[in-house]
Amino acid sequence: KRRIGVMTSGGDAPGMNGAVRAVVRMALFSNCEAFAIYEGYEGLVQGGNMIQEMHWEDVRGFLAEGGTIIGTARCMSFMQRDGRRTAAKNMILKGIDALVICGGDGSLTGADRFRAEWPSLLEELVERKELTPEQVAPFKHLNIVGLVGSIDNDLSMTDATIGCYSSLARICEAIDSVDTTATSHQRAFVVETMGRHCGWLTLMAGVATGSDFIFIPEKPVEDGWEENMLSIIRKHRALGKRKTIVIVAEGAIDVHLNKITPTQIKDILSKAGLDTRITTLGHVQRGGQPAAYDRMLSTLQGVEAVKAVLEATPETPSPVICMIENKIVRRPLLEAVAQTKEVAKAIESKDFDKAMRLRDAE
Ligand code: F6P
Repeated sequence: KRRIGVMTSGGDAPGMNGAVRAVVRMALFSNCEAFAIYEGYEGLVQGGNMIQEMHWEDVRGFLAEGGTIIGTARCMSFMQRDGRRTAAKNMILKGIDALVICGGDGSLTGADRFRAEWPSLLEELVERKELTPEQVAPFKHLNIVGLVGSIDNDLSMTDATIGCYSSLARICEAIDSVDTTATSHQRAFVVETMGRHCGWLTLMAGVATGSDFIFIPEKPVEDGWEENMLSIIRKHRALGKRKTIVIVAEGAIDVHLNKITPTQIKDILSKAGLDTRITTLGHVQRGGQPAAYDRMLSTLQGVEAVKAVLEATPETPSPVICMIENKIVRRPLLEAVAQTKEVAKAIESKDFDKAMRLRDAE
């Protein structure tokens, strides 16, 4: 029987538990054994009871739970070769040679590197007499399958990452709440959203809440933006709008790549005569129950991940499970990560049109 490990890594995202549940149950359905690796790569390096066999009922109730029940951690030791060698040993001791990882691009790239190093790690384990040649012989190849779990929706080649729609819903709920108090006092609010270097959450929240102005990393504001923003806001006020909502992504910049801060925007609005407050949504937008979309996405993708493990050959590049135009598809993990990095490079080199094009092409 194949033994498949599943873990969550990097920042938690609503829907990760749904992915774990789907991988466990699809593995069992496919006559494999399933193992949960606790606390991300940390669990792989520590081994022992951090790697636990999972049964059908162990993932009961996972679908509606936020965060990640099996935990996640930033693991420094897995960055070192020694740590990865220990991880390989722990996997072999448990008989696991396939890993499904739900995490961001960093976590997935780390996993692919682990796969590339796998044969040489096994050689080292034998040389060091930590394992016998007989013990490593059945585990020639490591299968890695990625599931993108991140609220940021920042991975290329997929329309949605697991967690982004829950986060978007939470942002909208929060802005709706801010709206009522803003309208009552005729105030302006500058709402700061997470998303790292990606503006998707902010852009979509801007559309979904009808905000007055947004700032995102991929389309930095040009010189004179202050007056542009104020003229739009004045126009809205002249039409009788009693509130002003400006959403600023945490990674927002101007065309000179200077960071745009909520305080800077607040000062401009205050000087223009608006009573202004700042609301930083922070981790509120990452927590809580997954939206229906993320429960569905994580389930379909978890099922596909197990299929990908079972169909993989040593030559198949590690896949990442994506959603493109409402279809669950596999894409080469490293290509998706490389294309994602292109966006950051385009922004750094001030080719903002290219950054938008690359995001659009996702
Ligand atoms: O990647 C998810 C995310 O929430 C980003 O939006 C944010 O920049 C970052 O993680 C925050 O990281 P931490 O939880 O370590 O503060």
